[in-house]
Amino acid sequence: MGKFDNKIVLITGGASGMGKSMSELFVEEGAYVIAADINKELLDVVSQHDSIEGKMLNVMSEEDWKKTVDEIIADHGRIDILINNAGIATEKEMDETTIEDWDLMMRINGFGPFAGMKHVLPNMVEQKSGAVVNISSYTAMVGLGVNTYTASKGAVRSISRAASTAYGRFGIRVNTVFPGVIETPMTANLSESSEVLQRLIMATPLQRLGQADDVARAVLFLASDDAAYITGAELVIDGGFSAQ
Ligand SMILES: NC(=O)c1ccc[n+]([C@@H]2O[C@H](COP(=O)([O-])OP(=O)(O)OC[C@H]3O[C@@H](n4cnc5c(N)ncnc54)[C@H](O)[C@@H]3O)[C@@H](O)[C@H]2O)c1
Repeated sequence: MGKFDNKIVLITGGASGMGKSMSELFVEEGAYVIAADINKELLDVVSQHDSIEGKMLNVMSEEDWKKTVDEIIADHGRIDILINNAGIATEKEMDETTIEDWDLMMRINGFGPFAGMKHVLPNMVEQKSGAVVNISSYTAMVGLGVNTYTASKGAVRSISRAASTAYGRFGIRVNTVFPGVIETPMTANLSESSEVLQRLIMATPLQRLGQADDVARAVLFLASDDAAYITGAELVIDGGFSAQ
């Protein structure tokens, strides 16, 4: 018996990094996963597994969201778990940021999870059950990164809390995780620069960078029945960095 037997799980950005790790761990625990992403090549790889279906979805597009959710409901009848994980990052600081940079970041990292909840929650309301886990970032918790990324992850934090209070009465839980620096393709440029890397590791109480599985395991916990009385929670997964 797996913890997620017969569960239908939708994971955005499910083809790479933490999303890929979540896709694989959910399947190990018995779930059927729809990994939704814009990267066709990576989707083809992750969906080689029998219980992982790859779907092209651009989280910026409301049309795409509607089509994706309609197709999953038609094929599987329900969505038990939604993981809003797709995102992009930037190195650009405030003085270099254009309005186009702001719009793109907010559209992917902010509107993406918002639109995901907008289209999936009505189905969960009908089912009278469901769990959502949104992926924010430790930058939304600490004073780091005066840029569009931090702003977009702050938006994820607020909208998650609001959704948890609005949808609790329907048996739906909404929680958020705040990863620190995790070794994934998103941070690959960091790994190449050993000086920055060493400084980061020394500044982290657990003295290492995070791995995709560190975040994925926490996400699985929040999505599972083990967290049945947990909603509106904010779980930091950063090796202790933000506790300082
Ligand atoms: N890696 C870190 O250090 C770190 C830290 C805190 C938070 N996060 C967040 O965790 C999440 C996963 O990041 P990761 O590190 O695994 O990165 P990643 O780059 O490995 O994966 C991100 C995935 O999102 C997909 N994606 C990007 N734009 C999309 C769009 N418009 N529509 C659909 N899919 C899209 C990409 O194709 C990719 O598969 C992101 O939201 C990121 O902001 C990452």
